[in-house]
This record gives sequence, C-alpha cells and structure tokens, in this order.
Amino acid sequence: MSENLRSHNWFGKKNKDGIIYRSWMKNQGMPIDMFDGRPVIGICNTFSELTPCNAHLREHAEMVKRGVLEAGGFPLEFPIMSLGETLLKPTAMLFRNLASMDAEESIRGNPIDGVVLLTGCDKTTPSTVMGASSVGLPTIVVPGGPMLNGRYKGQTIGSGTHVWKFDEDMKTGKMTQEECEVAESCMSRSIGHCMTMGTASTMAVMVESLGLTISGASAIPAADSRKKQMAQLSGRRIVEMVKENLTIDKILTREAFENAILVNAAVGGSSNFIIHLIAIAGRIGIDINLDDFDRIGSKIPLLLNLMPSGKYLMEDFYYAGGLPVILNELKDILHKNIITVTGKNHHENIKGHTDCYNDDVIATYEKPLIPDAGCVVVKGNLALNGAVIKPSAATPALLEHTGRAVVFESIEDYNARIDDPNLDIDETCIMVLKYVGPVGYPGMPEVGNMALPKKILEKGVKDMVRISDGRMSGTAYGTAVLHVSPESAIGGNLALVQNGDMIELDVTQRKLHLHVTDEELASRRKKWTAPKPAAERGYVSLYIKHVMGSDKGADLDFLQGNSGSEVTRDSH
Ligand code: FES
Ligand code: MG
Repeated sequence: MSENLRSHNWFGKKNKDGIIYRSWMKNQGMPIDMFDGRPVIGICNTFSELTPCNAHLREHAEMVKRGVLEAGGFPLEFPIMSLGETLLKPTAMLFRNLASMDAEESIRGNPIDGVVLLTGCDKTTPSTVMGASSVGLPTIVVPGGPMLNGRYKGQTIGSGTHVWKFDEDMKTGKMTQEECEVAESCMSRSIGHCMTMGTASTMAVMVESLGLTISGASAIPAADSRKKQMAQLSGRRIVEMVKENLTIDKILTREAFENAILVNAAVGGSSNFIIHLIAIAGRIGIDINLDDFDRIGSKIPLLLNLMPSGKYLMEDFYYAGGLPVILNELKDILHKNIITVTGKNHHENIKGHTDCYNDDVIATYEKPLIPDAGCVVVKGNLALNGAVIKPSAATPALLEHTGRAVVFESIEDYNARIDDPNLDIDETCIMVLKYVGPVGYPGMPEVGNMALPKKILEKGVKDMVRISDGRMSGTAYGTAVLHVSPESAIGGNLALVQNGDMIELDVTQRKLHLHVTDEELASRRKKWTAPKPAAERGYVSLYIKHVMGSDKGADLDFLQGNSGSEVTRDSH
C-alpha cells in the first residue's frame, strides 16, 4: 500500500534525497513514524485576514487535521493565494486563474496523496477546484460556511444584497451615513462568507452537488459547531479516499456537472456559477458549454427562497434541512450514476435527511416559487457566442423589452455621467456598458448590475434592462444581461453600439438583437480601434494574452486540461 502512494517518492527514499525530504520536516517535531507510509493529506488553506470570509479557516484546518490523524493519515497544511471579493482590486476574478495555478503546482510539487480544499469567499472555491482538477488526486472540499443572518432595526439583511439597497437609500436620502455604518456592522456579524445565495453560497452548493463535499456540508453556518464536525469528518474521509484511490476525475463526470446545473437552478444560484463550472469542466476535460446551462437548467423550478431571488438567508436554509432536502425534491431528475466523496451517490447519501422543516424556505418541486428559474442564454448580433441572464433575479415585465441604448464607453464614463441630471435617459432605455469583459477591464468585474441613475431611482423605479460584457455579483438583482461574448475589447459587436440604437431583449425567444443593419455595423467596425492593452508586463499581461471568452469559462487557454500528479525528478 504505502509504496503505491506518491508521498513514498519523497519520504520513503533511502538515499540522500530521503534525508532531505524527512529531516527538515522533523524540525516541526514530527516523529519518524509519521513517515512510515501513511497517507499524506495536504490541507490547502485559503485563509487570509485580507479575505474576511475565510479568516476563520485556520481553525477549520485544525479540525481537518484532527480527523486525518484519527484515520491514520499525516496532515500538512499549506497556504495558497487567497482571493477576497471585497478588497482585491481591480477584481478578484482577474486572479482566479493565477490562484488555480498556485493550487495546482503546490499540490503536484509536494508529497501529497490526497487534498482537502478549505474554501469560502467566491473565487476561493473555483480556483482551488480548478487547480486540484488539473492534478487529479483524491480531493474533498470543506466549504467555510456562511455568516449568520444579518439583522438591522428588526429587519433581516443579507450580505451584498443589502449593500445595493443601502446605496440606493443613501442616494435618495432615506438613510444617513451614521445609520449606514450601524447597518454595516449588522450585516457582517459573524465569521463566514456572504449568507445570501450569492456566489460564495452558490459555489458551496456547487461543490456539494458535484459530489465534492460530504453530504449536507454547504449550508452549515461558519459559526455553527457542526461546521467543525463536518471539517473533522472530512479529514477522516479523505484518508479513506486515498486508500480507495477515489480520485477527483471519478467524481467529476459529465453527469456530475449536469446535476450541478440542475441544483444551481433550483437554489437560484449566481450567474457566476456558469463561468466557474465551465472552467472546472475544462480542467477535467469535459465539454460543458453555455447551451447546456439553458437546456438543462432553464426549465428547472426555483425551490429555495433565499436573497437575492427571495427573502431568507443561508442560516434559514440550514435549519430548513439544507441541500439534502433540495436534492430529494430533485431526486427524479438527478443522475444516479455518479459517485460522491462518500463513495455513494446523492440518493444514498441523503437517506434519512430529507425532511423539510420550513416549507416557506424550501418549496416543493410540485409547488415551486418560480416555474422556470435557471439562467438563460440569449444570442443574437449583439452576442454571437451568447450572453447570460438570470430571470429569477429580474423583473418579469422587462424580460421582453425593446429600448433605446444609452451607452457608457467605460466604467469611468458610467461613473462620471450616471447621476448627471442632463443625461438623456428614462426607464424605458437600455443601459449599455462596454469594456468590462475579461480582456477589457481586465478581469471581468461585477459591474454588470449598474446602479440606475439617481433621477430614475427618485421616481421609485427599481429596475431597467442593463447589458454588458461584465459579471454581476451573485448577491445582486436586476434585469442584467451579462457575460456578452465576444466581449467589446476584442471587437465583439457590443463595441459598436451607439447611443440611440434600438436593442431588443426577448428572453422567451432567447434573443438579444441590435436593430442596426449589417452594412452599418461593418462601417462602424472600420472606424473602431481596439483599446490599448491594460498591462505590458506581469501576470496581467499574461492574462490578457491568454484569457478565453466568458462563454469558455474565462480560463487561460494553456491551463485547459490536466497534467496528472506525476513529478519524476528530485530537487537535489
Ligand atoms: Fe466573500 Fe461575499 S465577499 S463571500
Ligand atoms: Mg461576488
């Protein structure tokens, strides 16, 4: 057994290299029997005080270690680049692929037989899963868990979702700066990631539905002691997975990805799910494309009543029974021929855990909150490769809408003019924002849910159609057409839209059409010049040269696929 483990190629060596591999490790106080061929478990930690959503993960690592030791493994924690949504400029998304490279090379280059990924904030989940997928060891994810419900003046408030509301209230004079600072404290009152069904919760649900966590892991609040139990149990389980050689590629099959798409629709998950799932699939070598999301997910009903689509938060989801209840509602359409980290499929995992304790939080498949909830892909001359809209976060009346384009040529242009009282705009117009795609910004930030002009908000109007090649925070809402591909910075037709053009959005027909003739577009194209690259050196320059379109998951082209776990040469 032990000689088959890859860690044997380090710690099992009887020569000079073996001395080097073992001796320096012993400076941490490790006795010789730790090197006797027991499975070495890497604990890949995205802890950082600059990623507040993950700042509690050192404690989770200790719980995982406890479980690994109990099961006879050798736990070794290591840090990788941590990506926090709130502080990192210009956007954490710019560095998702970089962090995935960090995870991949850290796992492959070290004496690790199985890996536990400690995740939390949005990008920390896809980046680590992408990296681990490109190596292919037994892998388990321990999601860090959401914050407890926010409460402000007796009202439930959700991470992110209420930021947009507070911002609007400040603009329209309904809230003072002092009140806002109190509300901020109320919103983030415990450890954990955003507790709305934003991208972090979406990613936690994604890894559970893919089969990469132990059952029921995703909804447990970070502050709940059962999260620590889950971490400990995951530590025990990864040791078994190494013994069973249950590698990540055996879990991440096409059926697993299809299950994740079904579940994401049913929970009202973030539109960012699409980009990250495509990127992960690309590493495993499975072709998931935009049309798969529409085909598999768009007719799935919304079962989970969480902000931003609904009114509750992750804590309520956990008390209502968590993801096993949703999986049970979907049991007739979920693939059974999959295997999760437990070695069993979802149907087996959830046995005995299917009672719903609050049917206002989790609806049934027969009586859902919304009949067709999943993200929809629209196409047309404005988005030849597709664009994405999340109908459950949109205003139904705007899903079929033709309006006059009001164009912002950059995010700076938008910021400068949006609240100008002389801006020629009304609520029937369509706001268009250019150059916020992967190459354009760079990094495809979450600016697609552009705030409405103050003068329109003051009328009490809450939503307008907005179109961009950027993303939208999973905690946000609005009729936002996102991820327009090809993006404007590489010459997609979005770059050619002018003020006054008529744009037609028809979600039922899956249509996004710019009412401008092909001849006119061709003549505009002749006059168009590509923007100057955002960087000439460093990672950003590499990113701009190699990033693929958002419809391809915005991964770097050379990171697609996997290289296995083998490293043949020694370091000395
Ligand atoms: Fe980290 Fe929302 S900001 S999860
Ligand atoms: Mg986000």
